[in-house]
Amino acid sequence: MLTLNFSPFPKIVTERLTLREIDMGDVDAMFSLRSDERVMRYIGRPKAKEKSDSIELIERNIQDLKENTSISWAISLKDDHTLIGTIGYYRIKLEHHRGEVGYALHPDHWGKGIMCEALNAVTEVGFQQFGFHSIEGVTDPLNHASNRLLQRCGFIREGILKENYFWNGKFLDSAVYSKLAPKQ
Ligand SMILES: CC(C)(COP(=O)(O)OP(=O)(O)OC[C@H]1O[C@@H](n2cnc3c(N)ncnc32)[C@H](O)[C@@H]1OP(=O)(O)O)[C@@H](O)C(=O)NCCC(=O)NCCS
Repeated sequence: MLTLNFSPFPKIVTERLTLREIDMGDVDAMFSLRSDERVMRYIGRPKAKEKSDSIELIERNIQDLKENTSISWAISLKDDHTLIGTIGYYRIKLEHHRGEVGYALHPDHWGKGIMCEALNAVTEVGFQQFGFHSIEGVTDPLNHASNRLLQRCGFIREGILKENYFWNGKFLDSAVYSKLAPKQ
């Protein structure tokens, strides 16, 4: 069985980005992200309606991190501490050495290759530092940006789960992507 310890927090620096720990200073930026219709369209989770929703989300992130059950990074530009997006591993299956990656970026920054840069970095940490054997990405098949992003970052589309996700009164399909750890 894989064991994970997210302490000390694995901060990541890439060419243009800093991927850092999320804290209570991020409430406003998190609210701006999670209340945006364009961001939440395919996420299948409730939109933030009030600041308190974002406070709750960050508190949960902090708790999960402490318990080593999931990890989220704030995505910031290198020269600006503001949170512009998030990326992380959720629903980690320790017995299978497998993590599911999730991400969201504020629309002001879409289309510049930012999430691809973040995803490549987080994937490398997932394999090299955490010891994952595989990483999964699950999207709405209609979420072209997310599907393209995963393919661009070397994830393989494995198939479609038919109507496996009940959201807003509808049963939705899920596209499952995965990437295997490089062979040693
Ligand atoms: C999905 C998301 C993170 C992509 O972030 P991004 O930084 O704009 O993506 P990148 O610029 O790194 O682009 C990666 C690839 O996706 C493509 N892409 C980006 N937006 C696209 C769009 N709207 N439609 C089709 N392709 C798109 C890019 O062209 C690029 O592929 P290419 O190199 O072949 O051109 C962003 O659109 C987002 O936050 N969406 C809302 C949240 C969400 O849906 N999260 C995923 C839930 S599973």
